[in-house]
Amino acid sequence: MAKAAMIFPDDFLWGTATAAHQVEGNNQNNDWWRWEQEGGRILQNGRSGLACNWWQNAEADLDRAAEMGTNAHRLSLEWSRIEPEPAHFNEAALARYRDILLAMHARQIEPMVTLHHFSNPLWLTEKGDFNSDIVPDYFQRYTAKVVAYLGDLVPKWVPINEPMVYVFLRYLDKVFPAPSRGGMGGAMEALRQMLRCHAVAYHTIKAAYPGAQVGVAHNMAVLEARPGSSWAARRWAHWLGWLYNESWLDSLVDGRFHLPLSRGKVHNLAGTMDFVGINYYTRFYVKFPPVGGAIEHTWEPGAIISDGNYGEVYPAGLFQVIKRALKYNKPIYITENGVPDAADRLRPSFILTHLREIWRAISFNFPVMGYYHWTLVDNFEWDRGWTQRFGLIALDEQTQERQLRRSGQLYGEICHQRQINSEMAARYAPELLPVLFPGESPATAV
Ligand code: BGC
Repeated sequence: MAKAAMIFPDDFLWGTATAAHQVEGNNQNNDWWRWEQEGGRILQNGRSGLACNWWQNAEADLDRAAEMGTNAHRLSLEWSRIEPEPAHFNEAALARYRDILLAMHARQIEPMVTLHHFSNPLWLTEKGDFNSDIVPDYFQRYTAKVVAYLGDLVPKWVPINEPMVYVFLRYLDKVFPAPSRGGMGGAMEALRQMLRCHAVAYHTIKAAYPGAQVGVAHNMAVLEARPGSSWAARRWAHWLGWLYNESWLDSLVDGRFHLPLSRGKVHNLAGTMDFVGINYYTRFYVKFPPVGGAIEHTWEPGAIISDGNYGEVYPAGLFQVIKRALKYNKPIYITENGVPDAADRLRPSFILTHLREIWRAISFNFPVMGYYHWTLVDNFEWDRGWTQRFGLIALDEQTQERQLRRSGQLYGEICHQRQINSEMAARYAPELLPVLFPGESPATAV
Protein backbone atom coordinates (compact mmCIF):
# COMPACT_ATOMS: atom_id res chain seq x y z
CA MET A 1 0.00 0.00 0.00
CA ALA A 2 1.28 3.47 -0.85
CA LYS A 3 2.39 5.62 2.02
CA ALA A 4 0.57 8.87 2.68
CA ALA A 5 2.77 11.92 2.18
CA MET A 6 2.76 15.70 2.54
CA ILE A 7 4.83 16.79 -0.42
CA PHE A 8 6.64 20.12 -0.60
CA PRO A 9 7.31 22.17 -3.75
CA ASP A 10 10.47 21.32 -5.69
CA ASP A 11 11.97 24.77 -5.14
CA PHE A 12 11.34 24.80 -1.38
CA LEU A 13 14.51 25.62 0.58
CA TRP A 14 15.48 23.10 3.25
CA GLY A 15 17.94 24.71 5.59
CA THR A 16 19.54 25.11 8.95
CA ALA A 17 20.56 28.29 10.80
CA THR A 18 23.44 29.45 12.99
CA ALA A 19 24.94 32.71 14.30
CA ALA A 20 28.60 33.72 14.29
CA HIS A 21 29.28 34.06 18.00
CA GLN A 22 27.44 30.84 18.76
CA VAL A 23 29.53 28.66 16.45
CA GLU A 24 32.81 30.30 15.41
CA GLY A 25 34.84 30.21 18.63
CA ASN A 26 37.34 32.68 20.04
CA ASN A 27 35.37 35.80 19.17
CA GLN A 28 37.42 37.68 21.71
CA ASN A 29 36.78 41.18 20.50
CA ASN A 30 33.04 41.53 21.09
CA ASP A 31 30.77 42.42 23.98
CA TRP A 32 29.63 38.81 24.52
CA TRP A 33 33.13 37.52 25.08
CA ARG A 34 33.76 40.23 27.65
CA TRP A 35 30.42 39.49 29.34
CA GLU A 36 31.26 35.78 29.55
CA GLN A 37 34.63 36.49 31.18
CA GLU A 38 32.99 38.58 33.92
CA GLY A 39 31.67 35.39 35.48
CA GLY A 40 28.23 34.90 36.95
CA ARG A 41 26.54 36.16 33.80
CA ILE A 42 26.00 32.85 32.02
CA LEU A 43 24.21 29.80 33.33
CA GLN A 44 26.70 27.40 34.92
CA ASN A 45 29.38 29.96 34.08
CA GLY A 46 29.41 28.79 30.47
CA ARG A 47 31.77 30.39 27.99
CA SER A 48 31.64 30.34 24.22
CA GLY A 49 35.34 29.33 24.08
CA LEU A 50 36.00 27.36 20.94
CA ALA A 51 32.22 27.02 20.38
CA CYS A 52 31.83 24.71 17.34
CA ASN A 53 35.23 25.70 15.94
CA TRP A 54 33.70 27.06 12.76
CA TRP A 55 36.38 29.70 12.33
CA GLN A 56 38.85 26.87 11.74
CA ASN A 57 36.59 24.31 10.23
CA ALA A 58 33.03 25.25 9.31
CA GLU A 59 33.53 23.04 6.28
CA ALA A 60 33.24 19.82 8.28
CA ASP A 61 29.77 20.76 9.51
CA LEU A 62 28.82 21.98 6.04
CA ASP A 63 29.69 18.49 4.81
CA ARG A 64 27.27 17.12 7.37
CA ALA A 65 24.60 19.61 6.30
CA ALA A 66 25.09 18.58 2.68
CA GLU A 67 24.89 14.88 3.56
CA MET A 68 21.63 15.63 5.31
CA GLY A 69 20.33 16.91 1.99
CA THR A 70 19.89 20.55 2.98
CA ASN A 71 20.17 23.16 0.25
CA ALA A 72 20.20 26.36 2.32
CA HIS A 73 21.91 27.72 5.41
CA ARG A 74 21.49 30.94 7.32
CA LEU A 75 24.67 32.21 9.00
CA SER A 76 25.83 35.52 10.42
CA LEU A 77 28.99 37.58 10.13
CA GLU A 78 30.90 38.75 13.17
CA TRP A 79 31.33 42.52 12.87
CA SER A 80 34.16 42.54 15.43
CA ARG A 81 36.22 40.21 13.24
CA ILE A 82 35.64 42.19 10.08
CA GLU A 83 36.18 45.60 11.66
CA PRO A 84 38.25 45.01 14.81
CA GLU A 85 38.97 48.74 15.19
CA PRO A 86 36.86 51.57 13.77
CA ALA A 87 37.50 51.86 10.02
CA HIS A 88 40.23 49.22 10.18
CA PHE A 89 39.06 46.23 8.17
CA ASN A 90 40.58 42.81 8.52
CA GLU A 91 41.11 41.38 5.04
CA ALA A 92 41.96 37.93 6.40
CA ALA A 93 38.61 37.74 8.18
CA LEU A 94 36.77 38.76 5.02
CA ALA A 95 38.74 36.16 3.08
CA ARG A 96 37.75 33.49 5.61
CA TYR A 97 34.08 34.38 5.22
CA ARG A 98 34.53 34.23 1.47
CA ASP A 99 35.91 30.71 1.83
CA ILE A 100 32.99 29.65 3.99
CA LEU A 101 30.49 31.04 1.49
CA LEU A 102 32.32 29.36 -1.37
CA ALA A 103 32.25 26.11 0.59
CA MET A 104 28.47 26.42 0.81
CA HIS A 105 28.09 27.02 -2.90
CA ALA A 106 30.35 24.06 -3.63
CA ARG A 107 27.91 21.90 -1.65
CA GLN A 108 24.80 23.43 -3.31
CA ILE A 109 23.87 25.13 -0.06
CA GLU A 110 22.44 28.60 -0.64
CA PRO A 111 23.58 31.16 1.94
CA MET A 112 21.37 33.65 3.72
CA VAL A 113 23.61 36.13 5.55
CA THR A 114 22.77 38.08 8.69
CA LEU A 115 24.87 41.18 9.35
CA HIS A 116 24.11 41.58 13.04
CA HIS A 117 23.15 38.70 15.30
CA PHE A 118 23.29 39.85 18.94
CA SER A 119 27.04 40.68 19.17
CA ASN A 120 28.90 44.01 18.87
CA PRO A 121 32.54 45.01 18.45
CA LEU A 122 33.89 46.33 21.74
CA TRP A 123 34.76 49.64 20.15
CA LEU A 124 31.13 50.14 19.16
CA THR A 125 29.93 49.64 22.73
CA GLU A 126 32.47 52.27 23.80
CA LYS A 127 31.25 54.73 21.20
CA GLY A 128 27.69 54.67 22.40
CA ASP A 129 26.27 51.44 21.04
CA PHE A 130 22.73 51.33 19.65
CA ASN A 131 21.75 54.29 21.77
CA SER A 132 23.95 56.54 19.70
CA ASP A 133 22.76 58.15 16.50
CA ILE A 134 26.18 57.61 14.97
CA VAL A 135 25.62 53.83 14.76
CA PRO A 136 23.75 53.85 11.40
CA ASP A 137 26.82 55.45 9.78
CA TYR A 138 29.07 52.77 11.24
CA PHE A 139 26.64 50.08 10.18
CA GLN A 140 26.53 51.49 6.68
CA ARG A 141 30.33 51.49 6.42
CA TYR A 142 30.53 47.90 7.67
CA THR A 143 27.78 46.78 5.29
CA ALA A 144 29.43 48.47 2.32
CA LYS A 145 32.70 46.68 3.00
CA VAL A 146 31.00 43.32 3.42
CA VAL A 147 28.94 43.74 0.26
CA ALA A 148 32.01 44.74 -1.76
CA TYR A 149 33.82 41.55 -0.66
CA LEU A 150 31.08 39.00 -0.42
CA GLY A 151 28.05 40.36 -2.25
CA ASP A 152 28.50 38.20 -5.35
CA LEU A 153 28.03 35.09 -3.20
CA VAL A 154 24.96 36.14 -1.22
CA PRO A 155 21.45 36.08 -2.69
CA LYS A 156 19.62 36.71 0.59
CA TRP A 157 20.42 39.12 3.42
CA VAL A 158 19.11 39.94 6.85
CA PRO A 159 20.52 43.17 8.31
CA ILE A 160 19.49 42.61 11.94
CA ASN A 161 18.40 39.46 13.73
CA GLU A 162 15.37 39.64 16.05
CA PRO A 163 15.45 43.30 17.11
CA MET A 164 12.59 42.89 19.60
CA VAL A 165 14.21 39.95 21.38
CA TYR A 166 17.52 41.77 21.39
CA VAL A 167 16.30 44.94 23.05
CA PHE A 168 14.07 43.04 25.45
CA LEU A 169 16.81 40.73 26.72
CA ARG A 170 19.43 43.42 26.70
CA TYR A 171 17.85 46.62 27.98
CA LEU A 172 14.94 45.31 30.04
CA ASP A 173 15.85 41.80 31.23
CA LYS A 174 19.57 42.60 31.22
CA VAL A 175 20.56 38.99 30.61
CA PHE A 176 22.48 40.06 27.48
CA PRO A 177 25.53 42.36 27.68
CA ALA A 178 23.84 45.62 28.56
CA PRO A 179 24.96 49.17 27.91
CA SER A 180 24.69 51.59 30.80
CA ARG A 181 21.61 53.29 29.39
CA GLY A 182 19.04 50.54 29.83
CA GLY A 183 15.35 50.59 30.69
CA MET A 184 12.42 51.34 28.45
CA GLY A 185 13.94 54.61 27.20
CA GLY A 186 17.15 52.86 26.17
CA ALA A 187 15.22 50.04 24.50
CA MET A 188 13.05 52.39 22.44
CA GLU A 189 16.04 54.47 21.36
CA ALA A 190 17.91 51.30 20.34
CA LEU A 191 14.94 50.16 18.24
CA ARG A 192 14.85 53.54 16.50
CA GLN A 193 18.55 53.32 15.70
CA MET A 194 18.19 49.72 14.55
CA LEU A 195 15.45 50.73 12.14
CA ARG A 196 17.82 53.33 10.74
CA CYS A 197 20.55 50.65 10.49
CA HIS A 198 18.17 48.38 8.62
CA ALA A 199 17.36 51.14 6.14
CA VAL A 200 20.98 52.01 5.36
CA ALA A 201 21.96 48.35 5.04
CA TYR A 202 19.02 47.65 2.71
CA HIS A 203 19.98 50.46 0.34
CA THR A 204 23.69 49.69 0.48
CA ILE A 205 23.06 46.08 -0.55
CA LYS A 206 20.51 46.96 -3.23
CA ALA A 207 22.71 49.66 -4.75
CA ALA A 208 25.41 47.08 -5.40
CA TYR A 209 23.15 44.07 -6.09
CA PRO A 210 19.65 45.12 -7.16
CA GLY A 211 18.62 41.46 -7.47
CA ALA A 212 19.59 40.54 -3.90
CA GLN A 213 16.73 39.86 -1.51
CA VAL A 214 16.93 41.77 1.76
CA GLY A 215 14.51 40.85 4.51
CA VAL A 216 14.21 40.22 8.22
CA ALA A 217 14.60 37.39 10.71
CA HIS A 218 11.89 38.48 13.07
CA ASN A 219 10.93 36.58 16.18
CA MET A 220 7.18 36.04 16.16
CA ALA A 221 5.51 34.45 19.15
CA VAL A 222 1.95 33.61 20.01
CA LEU A 223 1.16 35.92 22.93
CA GLU A 224 -2.14 35.11 24.58
CA ALA A 225 -4.10 35.85 27.72
CA ARG A 226 -4.55 32.77 29.85
CA PRO A 227 -7.76 30.87 29.21
CA GLY A 228 -10.60 32.47 31.15
CA SER A 229 -8.92 35.89 31.45
CA SER A 230 -10.80 39.18 31.65
CA TRP A 231 -11.63 41.37 28.65
CA ALA A 232 -8.93 43.84 29.72
CA ALA A 233 -6.31 41.08 29.88
CA ARG A 234 -7.27 39.90 26.40
CA ARG A 235 -7.09 43.45 25.00
CA TRP A 236 -3.68 43.88 26.57
CA ALA A 237 -2.42 40.58 25.11
CA HIS A 238 -3.75 41.62 21.73
CA TRP A 239 -1.91 44.94 21.84
CA LEU A 240 1.31 43.35 23.09
CA GLY A 241 1.05 40.75 20.34
CA TRP A 242 0.88 43.52 17.77
CA LEU A 243 3.74 45.47 19.36
CA TYR A 244 6.00 42.43 19.54
CA ASN A 245 5.11 40.77 16.27
CA GLU A 246 4.15 43.54 13.90
CA SER A 247 5.28 47.02 14.92
CA TRP A 248 8.81 46.57 13.55
CA LEU A 249 7.54 45.09 10.29
CA ASP A 250 4.93 47.83 9.91
CA SER A 251 7.77 50.36 10.14
CA LEU A 252 9.63 48.69 7.30
CA VAL A 253 6.51 48.98 5.18
CA ASP A 254 5.55 52.62 5.75
CA GLY A 255 8.80 54.06 7.08
CA ARG A 256 7.24 55.33 10.33
CA PHE A 257 8.01 54.61 13.97
CA HIS A 258 5.19 52.65 15.51
CA LEU A 259 6.71 52.35 18.94
CA PRO A 260 5.15 53.78 22.08
CA LEU A 261 6.27 57.39 22.56
CA SER A 262 8.04 57.42 19.18
CA ARG A 263 6.49 59.18 16.26
CA GLY A 264 7.85 60.36 12.95
CA LYS A 265 9.51 58.89 9.91
CA VAL A 266 12.81 57.18 9.32
CA HIS A 267 14.66 58.36 6.25
CA ASN A 268 14.51 55.81 3.41
CA LEU A 269 12.93 53.09 5.53
CA ALA A 270 9.63 52.63 3.69
CA GLY A 271 9.53 49.55 1.46
CA THR A 272 12.74 47.94 2.74
CA MET A 273 11.51 44.38 3.24
CA ASP A 274 11.73 41.93 0.33
CA PHE A 275 10.77 38.91 2.43
CA VAL A 276 9.42 38.19 5.87
CA GLY A 277 11.67 35.82 7.79
CA ILE A 278 9.92 34.37 10.82
CA ASN A 279 11.79 32.93 13.79
CA TYR A 280 9.17 30.89 15.60
CA TYR A 281 9.69 28.94 18.80
CA THR A 282 6.74 29.03 21.15
CA ARG A 283 3.59 30.50 22.70
CA PHE A 284 3.60 32.61 25.86
CA TYR A 285 0.89 33.71 28.22
CA VAL A 286 0.92 37.41 28.88
CA LYS A 287 1.04 38.79 32.42
CA PHE A 288 -1.83 41.01 33.39
CA PRO A 289 -1.39 43.40 34.96
CA PRO A 290 2.20 43.43 33.64
CA VAL A 291 3.93 43.69 36.98
CA GLY A 292 7.48 42.33 37.19
CA GLY A 293 7.65 41.34 33.52
CA ALA A 294 5.48 41.03 30.44
CA ILE A 295 5.18 37.28 30.04
CA GLU A 296 4.66 34.28 32.27
CA HIS A 297 6.91 31.26 32.41
CA THR A 298 4.26 28.81 33.46
CA TRP A 299 1.97 26.87 31.17
CA GLU A 300 -1.40 25.15 31.27
CA PRO A 301 -1.60 21.57 32.56
CA GLY A 302 -0.69 19.06 29.87
CA ALA A 303 1.54 21.44 27.90
CA ILE A 304 4.72 19.89 26.50
CA ILE A 305 7.66 21.87 27.84
CA SER A 306 11.19 21.78 26.44
CA ASP A 307 14.48 21.69 28.37
CA GLY A 308 15.15 24.31 31.04
CA ASN A 309 11.55 25.57 30.93
CA TYR A 310 12.41 27.24 27.60
CA GLY A 311 8.87 27.09 26.31
CA GLU A 312 5.86 25.14 25.21
CA VAL A 313 5.92 23.00 22.08
CA TYR A 314 3.07 24.60 20.16
CA PRO A 315 3.12 23.79 16.43
CA ALA A 316 -0.28 25.39 15.72
CA GLY A 317 1.36 28.70 16.58
CA LEU A 318 3.57 28.45 13.52
CA PHE A 319 0.50 28.49 11.29
CA GLN A 320 -0.85 31.45 13.27
CA VAL A 321 2.28 33.55 12.82
CA ILE A 322 2.47 32.67 9.12
CA LYS A 323 -1.10 33.95 8.78
CA ARG A 324 -0.08 37.07 10.62
CA ALA A 325 2.75 37.67 8.16
CA LEU A 326 0.45 37.39 5.13
CA LYS A 327 -0.62 40.99 5.50
CA TYR A 328 2.82 42.06 4.22
CA ASN A 329 2.29 40.36 0.88
CA LYS A 330 5.88 39.13 0.63
CA PRO A 331 7.55 35.73 0.35
CA ILE A 332 7.82 34.11 3.77
CA TYR A 333 10.75 32.07 5.09
CA ILE A 334 10.89 30.35 8.43
CA THR A 335 14.33 31.65 9.28
CA GLU A 336 14.52 29.81 12.64
CA ASN A 337 12.53 27.11 14.38
CA GLY A 338 13.78 24.57 16.86
CA VAL A 339 13.68 23.21 20.38
CA PRO A 340 16.18 22.75 23.23
CA ASP A 341 16.10 19.01 23.79
CA ALA A 342 19.38 17.35 24.76
CA ALA A 343 17.85 13.87 24.94
CA ASP A 344 16.07 14.26 21.58
CA ARG A 345 12.81 13.11 23.15
CA LEU A 346 10.76 15.95 21.58
CA ARG A 347 12.63 16.99 18.43
CA PRO A 348 11.53 14.24 16.00
CA SER A 349 7.86 15.02 16.58
CA PHE A 350 8.62 18.76 16.85
CA ILE A 351 10.03 18.68 13.32
CA LEU A 352 7.17 16.64 11.90
CA THR A 353 4.40 18.70 13.49
CA HIS A 354 5.95 22.07 12.62
CA LEU A 355 6.62 21.05 9.03
CA ARG A 356 3.03 19.85 8.81
CA GLU A 357 1.90 23.41 9.65
CA ILE A 358 4.11 24.76 6.88
CA TRP A 359 2.76 22.22 4.43
CA ARG A 360 -0.77 23.24 5.43
CA ALA A 361 0.12 26.89 4.80
CA ILE A 362 1.57 26.06 1.38
CA SER A 363 -1.52 24.02 0.54
CA PHE A 364 -3.59 27.14 1.25
CA ASN A 365 -1.38 28.91 -1.27
CA PHE A 366 0.44 30.96 1.35
CA PRO A 367 3.90 31.89 0.03
CA VAL A 368 6.17 29.98 2.45
CA MET A 369 9.35 29.41 0.48
CA GLY A 370 11.80 27.78 2.89
CA TYR A 371 12.59 26.47 6.36
CA TYR A 372 15.84 26.92 8.34
CA HIS A 373 15.97 24.65 11.35
CA TRP A 374 17.64 26.09 14.45
CA THR A 375 20.17 24.59 14.59
CA LEU A 376 22.61 22.37 12.76
CA VAL A 377 24.91 21.55 15.67
CA ASP A 378 24.60 22.29 19.41
CA ASN A 379 26.07 25.73 20.01
CA PHE A 380 26.64 28.41 22.62
CA GLU A 381 23.16 29.41 23.71
CA TRP A 382 23.85 32.98 24.95
CA ASP A 383 22.93 33.56 28.60
CA ARG A 384 22.01 29.87 28.90
CA GLY A 385 25.50 28.85 27.88
CA TRP A 386 25.81 25.17 27.07
CA THR A 387 22.76 24.11 29.07
CA GLN A 388 20.40 24.12 26.10
CA ARG A 389 20.96 21.89 23.10
CA PHE A 390 19.17 22.82 19.91
CA GLY A 391 21.28 20.80 17.46
CA LEU A 392 20.30 18.20 14.90
CA ILE A 393 23.86 17.13 15.68
CA ALA A 394 24.96 16.76 19.30
CA LEU A 395 28.28 18.37 20.22
CA ASP A 396 30.68 17.64 23.04
CA GLU A 397 32.22 21.10 23.21
CA GLN A 398 35.24 19.83 25.17
CA THR A 399 36.31 17.19 22.68
CA GLN A 400 34.54 18.67 19.64
CA GLU A 401 33.05 15.26 18.95
CA ARG A 402 29.77 15.21 17.13
CA GLN A 403 26.95 12.72 16.98
CA LEU A 404 24.02 12.90 14.60
CA ARG A 405 20.81 12.83 16.62
CA ARG A 406 17.84 10.71 15.52
CA SER A 407 16.05 13.94 14.73
CA GLY A 408 18.97 14.85 12.47
CA GLN A 409 18.56 11.57 10.69
CA LEU A 410 14.86 12.28 10.28
CA TYR A 411 15.46 15.82 9.01
CA GLY A 412 17.92 14.35 6.52
CA GLU A 413 15.29 11.94 5.19
CA ILE A 414 12.80 14.79 4.91
CA CYS A 415 15.26 17.03 3.03
CA HIS A 416 16.23 14.24 0.64
CA GLN A 417 12.65 13.23 -0.08
CA ARG A 418 11.15 16.76 0.15
CA GLN A 419 8.19 15.42 2.07
CA ILE A 420 7.00 14.13 5.39
CA ASN A 421 5.20 10.82 5.17
CA SER A 422 3.44 8.17 7.18
CA GLU A 423 6.43 5.88 7.06
CA MET A 424 8.64 8.49 8.72
CA ALA A 425 5.98 9.18 11.32
CA ALA A 426 5.63 5.44 12.04
CA ARG A 427 9.37 5.07 12.52
CA TYR A 428 10.27 8.30 14.34
CA ALA A 429 7.13 9.32 16.22
CA PRO A 430 4.52 6.52 16.09
CA GLU A 431 2.21 8.38 18.48
CA LEU A 432 1.82 11.02 15.76
CA LEU A 433 0.70 8.64 13.04
CA PRO A 434 -3.05 8.94 13.79
CA VAL A 435 -2.69 12.69 14.24
CA LEU A 436 -0.76 13.46 11.05
CA PHE A 437 -2.02 10.63 8.87
CA PRO A 438 -5.41 9.49 10.19
CA GLY A 439 -6.32 6.01 9.01
CA GLU A 440 -2.77 4.90 8.32
CA SER A 441 -1.71 1.99 10.48
CA PRO A 442 1.95 1.34 11.29
CA ALA A 443 1.77 -1.79 9.14
CA THR A 444 0.47 -0.04 6.04
CA ALA A 445 2.63 3.01 6.63
CA VAL A 446 5.95 1.21 6.75
C1 BGC B 1 18.13 33.45 18.38
C2 BGC B 1 19.22 32.40 18.42
C3 BGC B 1 19.01 31.51 19.62
C4 BGC B 1 17.67 30.82 19.48
C5 BGC B 1 17.34 29.79 20.54
C6 BGC B 1 16.76 32.93 18.69
O1 BGC B 1 16.05 33.88 19.42
O2 BGC B 1 18.16 34.15 17.16
O3 BGC B 1 20.46 33.04 18.44
O4 BGC B 1 20.03 30.59 19.81
O5 BGC B 1 16.67 31.80 19.48
O6 BGC B 1 17.09 30.38 21.78
